[in-house]
Amino acid sequence: MKRDITIAGQPENKTGVQKLRVGVLGMGFMGGTHTFAWKNGKSVFNWPIEVELTALFDMSEDSRTLNGQRFGFKRTTDDWRSVCEADDIDVVSICTPNFAHREMAEVALAHGKHVWCEKPMATSLEDAAHMVNAAAKAGTKTMLGYNYLKSPALLAIKDLIEAGTIGEIVHFNGVYQEDFMCDSGAPHSWRLTKKGGGKGALGDMGSHQVSMAMWLCGGLKEVVARLQTVHKHRPDAATGEMLKVETDDQYSAIGTFENGAMFTMHTSWLGQGHKMNLGFEVTGTKGAIKFDQERMGEFWLYEMGDRGGTFSDTATNGYKQVLIGPNHPPFGNFCPAPGHHIGFNEMKIIEAGAFVKAILEGGKAFPDFEDGLWFETALQAIQDSSESRAWVTL
Ligand SMILES: NC(=O)c1ccc[n+]([C@@H]2O[C@H](COP(=O)([O-])OP(=O)(O)OC[C@H]3O[C@@H](n4cnc5c(N)ncnc54)[C@H](O)[C@@H]3O)[C@@H](O)[C@H]2O)c1
Repeated sequence: MKRDITIAGQPENKTGVQKLRVGVLGMGFMGGTHTFAWKNGKSVFNWPIEVELTALFDMSEDSRTLNGQRFGFKRTTDDWRSVCEADDIDVVSICTPNFAHREMAEVALAHGKHVWCEKPMATSLEDAAHMVNAAAKAGTKTMLGYNYLKSPALLAIKDLIEAGTIGEIVHFNGVYQEDFMCDSGAPHSWRLTKKGGGKGALGDMGSHQVSMAMWLCGGLKEVVARLQTVHKHRPDAATGEMLKVETDDQYSAIGTFENGAMFTMHTSWLGQGHKMNLGFEVTGTKGAIKFDQERMGEFWLYEMGDRGGTFSDTATNGYKQVLIGPNHPPFGNFCPAPGHHIGFNEMKIIEAGAFVKAILEGGKAFPDFEDGLWFETALQAIQDSSESRAWVTL
């Protein structure tokens, strides 16, 4: 059989750009994935430009020494501002804690850089709005690290919904559970303060869930929610002193989208036994789709069929498993065989591909800072509803 050798998502260079010189801020979990994506995006998407890893900022000297060398950065620094202001940097990847996003983005944008910033966008709506203004003033491209919206499975699900395969959406049931904070002795961190993280599980994980719901089903119209902090104090990593936890461990919400469909959502970092259970079931008038990020190489589709799911159909009809493969672009850029799976780092490469396409073709990257503010407004409404013990209309 003849191999399909086309490259999905290959950008056309409509600018004079020959090279993108990249600065990465923060080399923790996300810094590694951004850098990996910058290193591999050129071959995956056949970018018609060079990419140079120009500067790495990290607070830890050991990390700078190890990661500067292993990824091949031209230089490393303990001064993030120097990266955002440098003349030899075109793009900045912001991979630092939430509280640092606004200032880093504003300085980079003020110096004409494109900015790929991790989610959640900021620790407050006010900060997010300032970031939108800074981006509008700069006129450069921005994108937020909502990588799960970039997986081939999610892109395929979005296409099916838009094609009307499951009819009009009537319900979205989302759940997102991880168990990394189940141990009450897990140390305190910036994620557990309003100043550092902004919101807790709601901001850290719920931002993925809410963005996914909104991208698939539209904006939220009204919501009622309850946030809860189960472990109210956690030990300082260095001293063991018990520090107050200011943010939530879990939330549950119900409400409606602008199109009238209902949603139920639950997110928790106390989800015993779950590692990456970012899942949903979206139900329409003609069928339904189920997905779980722990099994990102598949989704489940139910089509009611012409006879409307009458009793005679129920002998054999039901959900069918769809294994992700080259028919779900850009999976084929990585692997020609269905069911062979790609992973988290590949999603991050797809994200970099969308960003570079926007930079080279002049279009919009999704989700950019404006889209991020849209998500943040919904997250804030969920928190406001819990604090006011009342329904919130958006
Ligand atoms: N998209 C995703 O799936 C995903 C997953 C995890 C984290 N994140 C987001 O990525 C961001 C970073 O999270 P992480 O898990 O990579 O964190 P991390 O703790 O692994 O790394 C954070 C990095 O930021 C730097 N840093 C720490 N404190 C700083 C300060 N005060 N000023 C400047 N730099 C500082 C450190 O040098 C470190 O390298 C967060 O916004 C988080 O929400 C996104």
